[in-house]
Amino acid sequence: MITRRGFLRLIGGSFLSMVSLGAYAVGIEPMLLTHVKRYSLTPPHWPAGLKLRVVALADIHACRPWMTPERIASLAAEANALKPDVIVMLGDFPAGTRLVSDWVDASEWAPALSGLKAPLGVWSILGNHDWWEDRAAQAAGAGPTISRKALEAVGIPVLENDVVRLEKDGHGFWLAGLADQLALRPGQAWGRTGFKGLDDLDGTLAKVSDGAPVILLAHEPDIFPKVPSRVSLTLSGHTHGGQVRLFGYSPVVPSRFGNRYAYGHVVEQDRNLIVSGGLGFSIMPVRFGMRPEILQIDLG
Ligand SMILES: [Fe+2]
Repeated sequence: MITRRGFLRLIGGSFLSMVSLGAYAVGIEPMLLTHVKRYSLTPPHWPAGLKLRVVALADIHACRPWMTPERIASLAAEANALKPDVIVMLGDFPAGTRLVSDWVDASEWAPALSGLKAPLGVWSILGNHDWWEDRAAQAAGAGPTISRKALEAVGIPVLENDVVRLEKDGHGFWLAGLADQLALRPGQAWGRTGFKGLDDLDGTLAKVSDGAPVILLAHEPDIFPKVPSRVSLTLSGHTHGGQVRLFGYSPVVPSRFGNRYAYGHVVEQDRNLIVSGGLGFSIMPVRFGMRPEILQIDLG
């Protein structure tokens, strides 16, 4: 079976050898064609009168030359221009590939995000790369990670198995942020034979103390089958839509569920999930048929 890494290498390798298509997939689509992906929905049990615009940024994967602090700052300005009520970030801030001309440290990408502004605040969760690129956190088997500290240093709270209650026009709602499901990598030195998640869905939702609607932020969409219908909407990233997507199909998706949660709006029974295609990339600097996107979700 072909792995995600093998597939993206193959695609990247063939694209790089075909100069014009290569320039498109490696340069133009990853960098220039960022767009706003808009959704508008009324989830089940959503209170009448609560009109909420959520803007989400996922999988920034800061690195040079593709995702510089300057580009991150301009994405933040684009997000602000959508006039969101609340901004959420879905994790994976550091580079997820070695094919970079230079690293962008948390001390650079976090200040670039500090310009994000919304009346109900800017909130973040963490992704697997926020954990994987932090050797001290891997060794300790615990945070706070470099990403978490950097976000908090610029005034962006991080929800790891935690919730916050916000209010608009007299209606409350909850943001619930799940800790990462793949946080700890296997490694002999660390005494781990497999990946270990730090997510606690039940514990997180137990902190929701009234009947107001819940928006769950979970980096990997694989949690979705376990999410109860009490949650109005789940927002995820991580898959990058496969990075290569043709005719609504992504050949390789880093998910146990393959294409089921690869990209977009998924409704299962009365539960709603939106998976962002994200902004950056991992493994190979390739995007094809999957432009970088900022999510704008209008609820109500
Ligand atoms: Fe991820």
